Amino acid sequence: MSDIDPKEFRNVLGHFPTGVTVVTGMDGDTPVGLTIGSFTSVSLDPPMVGFLPTTNSSSWAAMSASGRFCVNVLGDTQGDVCWTFAKSGNEDERFSNLAWHASPLGSPVIDGSLAWIDCEVESVTEMGDHYFVLGRVASLAAGDGGPLLFFKGSLGGFSPA
Ligand SMILES: Cc1cc2nc3c(=O)[nH]c(=O)nc-3n(C[C@H](O)[C@H](O)[C@H](O)COP(=O)(O)O)c2cc1C
Repeated sequence: MSDIDPKEFRNVLGHFPTGVTVVTGMDGDTPVGLTIGSFTSVSLDPPMVGFLPTTNSSSWAAMSASGRFCVNVLGDTQGDVCWTFAKSGNEDERFSNLAWHASPLGSPVIDGSLAWIDCEVESVTEMGDHYFVLGRVASLAAGDGGPLLFFKGSLGGFSPA
């Protein structure tokens, strides 16, 4: 048992700003995805990235069998996409009214995303109440525009300091 209060943990960690991604994949013929802030670049050679879904994430469970995922880096006009993929109870409707196409490995690329990174799962490691999912990058691309940022529970854009 830890004596760190979960509320304090969330509050303090909320002071660390992150970018916002939607990690997508396929469950058979059905697209699935969830909003992820814990995305990180891991290795350049070989090219690898990672993210941490909770162990009870239904979307990660749904896409994991395919052994593939695509990281969609959201731009500053995609706040609605962030909340749609973060809400619970709407899992079947997250791709309704959303334009997307298949990545080279077949995972959804959300139109208008700032960048996408198409991956094959290299390993999945349980860490406390999350998994660390390590992916080997198969292909990737970036467009123009500003990033969507998450800080202390709110979304915003980037401005040079
Ligand atoms: C900005 C932001 C970042 C998030 N980052 C993560 C994350 O890194 N890991 C995670 O498990 N959930 C994260 N979430 C919460 C999930 O998106 C949310 O719990 C979602 O409903 C999970 O979907 P699922 O239950 O279909 O797997 C984040 C939510 C927001 C708004």
